[in-house]
Amino acid sequence: MNHAELWQRYRRHLCDVPSIGMRLDISRMGFDDSPACLGAFLEGMAAPIERALDAMEKLESGSRANADEDRMVGHYWLRSPELAPDESIRSDIEKTISAVKQFARAVSSGEVTPASGDAFYIVLVIGIGGSALGPQLLVDALGTTEDSVIVRFLDNTDPDGIDRVIAELDETLAQTLTIVMSKSGGTRETRNTMLEVTAAYKRAGLDFAKHAVAVTCKGSALADQAAKESWLRVFEIWDWVGGRTSITSAVGLLPAALLGADVDAFLAGARECDAVTRQRDVAANPAALLALMWHHAGGGKGSRNMVVLPYRDRLRLFGQYLQQLVMESMGKLRDRDGGTVHHGLTVYGNKGSTDQHAFVQQLREGPDDYFATFIGFIQSRDRESIDVEEGVTTGDYLNAFLLGTRDALTDAGHPSLMISFEKLDAYSLGALIALFERAVGLYAELVNVNAYDQPGVEAGKEAAESVLVLQREVLALLAKRAGSALTVEEIADGIGRLDAMETIHHVLEHAAANRHSRLAGPDHGIKRISGDDPLAAKFATT
Ligand code: PA5
Repeated sequence: MNHAELWQRYRRHLCDVPSIGMRLDISRMGFDDSPACLGAFLEGMAAPIERALDAMEKLESGSRANADEDRMVGHYWLRSPELAPDESIRSDIEKTISAVKQFARAVSSGEVTPASGDAFYIVLVIGIGGSALGPQLLVDALGTTEDSVIVRFLDNTDPDGIDRVIAELDETLAQTLTIVMSKSGGTRETRNTMLEVTAAYKRAGLDFAKHAVAVTCKGSALADQAAKESWLRVFEIWDWVGGRTSITSAVGLLPAALLGADVDAFLAGARECDAVTRQRDVAANPAALLALMWHHAGGGKGSRNMVVLPYRDRLRLFGQYLQQLVMESMGKLRDRDGGTVHHGLTVYGNKGSTDQHAFVQQLREGPDDYFATFIGFIQSRDRESIDVEEGVTTGDYLNAFLLGTRDALTDAGHPSLMISFEKLDAYSLGALIALFERAVGLYAELVNVNAYDQPGVEAGKEAAESVLVLQREVLALLAKRAGSALTVEEIADGIGRLDAMETIHHVLEHAAANRHSRLAGPDHGIKRISGDDPLAAKFATT
């Protein structure tokens, strides 16, 4: 396609939304836009997208849209509490937003202090999945050198990862405020990390409770613990907010407010994007257009991956955030009628132009299995730029790389779309997130899957629990037969689990390589007695 044709397509298919400073260009998604073909596609999709918009309207009015979990889906109310289906939800949201802002002010003014009387200037956030990715994105995207606090995260049960962060904070734990985020209040990774961090405070002679805040649902184990131990505060989240759509709840707002970010602007961006993306006029509704393009690209089966390329360092985590939002929502074995669909929409990407030096080579020359989503910002920075070449700035280069890479992919016949904003700030970030949240909701309606449950996540958690049950049985057997060196097969036979020999082998290798505080020192524990064949090694208690 020559440039004159591209220009004509651009003019025909640009969705310009000046009210929120957003533009969506779908002109390079590779659809045939001759009146007959495009007309046929849009005509074919007119009824489904209309039904999807109806379903979103019902969802927003409080229907139990997450049927499998029998829950409402209310993340849109978090930025428009007046739309909540009842007065008590509306007032809970408003009270929480104002409590978050008030608490952040109290920390920053020194009204809330640690027991030492000093100030909190470090915030440690413990959470995982939806209780970590949103806050991580917000903090990275909106942080400045003038932030009121430094924010660190722990989002895994990785001892080495935990040690690294604790070592960094060790001298400053007395001034560290720890936020434990868990909607369910029972997620193992989060609980384990909280216990490790509690032990670190104790080693430093500090009372964890006097440094701790929780974000969780009423009645959860975490809420009970926080109440019993008199933690500094508990902020509420509700069962009608999904983890991956909790960024506009206290989960995202609390770290952002403590940082000093403009949470009102962030909520306003999301709220105003919601208003735009509720529109029935599909050509003026960027979320409806995105959902239609995803459907068009993957034939409603998600058969093309979504490559996300935000051209801004501050959005380096956006790909990860979106990966969870889209893949946890869309990756489903069954549709809502119970049919087996194995639906998915794969998302990956980091940032442009850095990815130019990583996977863009494959995008250009490898398989035609994706569509690219370019995200750009017209304004590069607030201050004046220097020339890096005559008449050319670093920002000009970034812009040229975005446009150049897009052209290179178009020339090679690969589809792409582009979302652009005037500038990157709290407002546009809120709008960008709301755009994708709505597109996910609409697309899920088009492909008839429940975007709001996550049965596959549960399966992995249950499997991990059964590995730990097996580990306890293995260690109990070795303790009972102390002094004898046993092969994996003998151990498996001894506990009646010959069906699990490979897992037992891995469990034993792990136990032999690690010390445990419960055992009496470095020479006590599980010993691996090696032979030539690693799989024939024997294990014994020492
Ligand atoms: O999106 C989701 O629902 C999950 O990723 C959860 O956020 C994650 O499992 C953490 O759950 P919780 O906040 O209950 O600790």
